[in-house]
Amino acid sequence: MKLLSTIATVGAALLAVTPAASIPLQSRAEWDLGAFLQNYAKIPTADQKSRIQDLYTKAQKIEPYIFPWPDIIVQSQLAGDTWGPEILAELQKDKAQFHELGAYMAPEVHWLQSKGASADKLYASNLKDGIFQLSHDFFKKGEESTSPPLDTRDHFLAPFDILDYSEGEKGASGNTVVYLNNVLHFLTDQDNPDASLAVQKKAASQCLKLLRPDAGRTVYIYIRDSALYRPEVLEGAGAQYVHSPDSMKALWNGMKDDDYWKHEIKEIKVSTRKSDIDYQASKAAWKQGGGQPFLMWTRVAVLF
Ligand SMILES: C[S@@+](CC[C@H](N)C(=O)[O-])C[C@H]1O[C@@H](n2cnc3c(N)ncnc32)[C@H](O)[C@@H]1O
Repeated sequence: MKLLSTIATVGAALLAVTPAASIPLQSRAEWDLGAFLQNYAKIPTADQKSRIQDLYTKAQKIEPYIFPWPDIIVQSQLAGDTWGPEILAELQKDKAQFHELGAYMAPEVHWLQSKGASADKLYASNLKDGIFQLSHDFFKKGEESTSPPLDTRDHFLAPFDILDYSEGEKGASGNTVVYLNNVLHFLTDQDNPDASLAVQKKAASQCLKLLRPDAGRTVYIYIRDSALYRPEVLEGAGAQYVHSPDSMKALWNGMKDDDYWKHEIKEIKVSTRKSDIDYQASKAAWKQGGGQPFLMWTRVAVLF
């Protein structure tokens, strides 16, 4: 299952960008999904495969384009990544709240909870309704075994549109950590893909609005997404704005000059992490006329 997970992680990035491209394997610390499902969700090892397959079959009816590796939908990306302990430490602080946007089965919320994060500080949301009932049914036993129990019907919010949520809506304020996994590149202008950078700017602004300005400390947006050596709007199953490390930094640093934010943001620091090998491969592929996607982790640290 571990090997499958690694392949799936990379494959997901690849599929999300363009089915025809190839991408080198990304290394990632191993995480034992089987043990997590057994200990947290109380799903016996012998049942895990069939339970995941069943979940995946149901999930495909809601989202036909989901990745062709069933176990990826219940696998936490934060587990085994340096961001995991970092986010857990943030959640120990006063006035802390985590919100995953565009979440699917929301394994991150469950993993954070399994590591001791308080359930009342954890939110997940998605544009599409229906997904979270499946997640609830799958992880239910894990939720029931925690105290206080995480009621996913209360803390998993759908429909919640990143680009068009309303002020005062549950989850729309009070966050100190916002997380997007494989979501940002979907936020584009489908009618006019060339205008997609404007949508990305709106998405960035909408993410900032979700944060808690009165936290009295730095608050964070974490983004894990496919990237290219140069930014490009790819057209496959819809337009997808795929950033480069530079364009991602420019997007967030640009918020300091935005009319709405220039008097609100004291400091914004953006850092990206990527595999240098894959970055070089992407660069080389570009010279030959095509981009090669790789995974990129971006952390935006904001002080209001
Ligand atoms: C490739 S999936 C990634 C799902 C999940 N984050 C994961 O990594 O497994 C992209 C998700 O973004 C959601 N999404 C797309 N546009 C959105 C929007 N404007 N607001 C909220 N969610 C959105 C989709 O419904 C979809 O579930």
